Amino acid sequence: MPDIGFVNGRFMPLEEATVSVEDRGFQFGDGIYEVIRTYHGKPFQLDAHLARFERSAKAIELSLPWSVHQWATHVRDGITRSGYAESKVYLQLTRGAAPRDHVFPASAKPTAVMTVREMKPMDSAIQTSGVAVMTMDDWRWGRCDIKSVNLLANVMARQKAKQAGAFEALFIRNGQVTEGAVSNVMMVKAGRVLTAPEGERILSGVTRTIVLELAHKEGLPVEERFVSSDEFLRADEIFLTGTTVEVLPVIRVDGKAIGPGGSGKPGPVTKRLQAAFQRLVG
Ligand code: PDD
Repeated sequence: MPDIGFVNGRFMPLEEATVSVEDRGFQFGDGIYEVIRTYHGKPFQLDAHLARFERSAKAIELSLPWSVHQWATHVRDGITRSGYAESKVYLQLTRGAAPRDHVFPASAKPTAVMTVREMKPMDSAIQTSGVAVMTMDDWRWGRCDIKSVNLLANVMARQKAKQAGAFEALFIRNGQVTEGAVSNVMMVKAGRVLTAPEGERILSGVTRTIVLELAHKEGLPVEERFVSSDEFLRADEIFLTGTTVEVLPVIRVDGKAIGPGGSGKPGPVTKRLQAAFQRLVG
């Protein structure tokens, strides 16, 4: 079976999966989501993703229609049905279909959607060479810790980045670097790994947590604090973390070369963490 759809507990081919035009996910972006990938056919960090899914749901006053354990069963079932060597699973939960009114509907049933598609790994040449990024104003709402399906600001940012020939847009709020449109960002200075702290300004990435644990294991000091865009541009190294990007070196920020001695090449700490991450998943 190819791409898989799942709507409110029922599996079907993806092209047959539909939801109502009155769904609040469509009308308002009133919902949450998760993106999970497999390694060796097994969902990576499924418990952490489902824990965040539950946190996001609670934050928007939505209850999960199934227990985390039941969600895990659905995810594994979807992966098995797809038959892909590696899959990418999207979970989406919205407040359901109801006549359009901003106020929560009295009786709508949440809409639960899952899709399972083939996961094509990122080009290894890009993983090796690193990517260019651009910075821009963080014009998102104030609760970036909630993994909301309302991604308009991220969509606009990523499009601007693409038009500028950059891989990712990095957000700056009040002069401080927060995260990327689809990834978290870390910098290295004098052997220390720095990244924005958890809180309402960033999505606490599952990959972020893993990479910080790997940094500890590698004996690298970690500081979870905001850095200004000036300090950021003086980084020895910069890299992105995320489900789709894994650990991805950044070699250029707004046209300025980053890397040892301004080389525009991935630095040693980034390569070490990249290798540690690949050992973990490989
Ligand atoms: N994005 N920050 C933002 C804004 C993100 O959208 C993501 C993930 C991350 C990294 O989180 P994680 O390590 O849990 O994947 C950080 C997913 C992949 C997406 O929207 O496609």
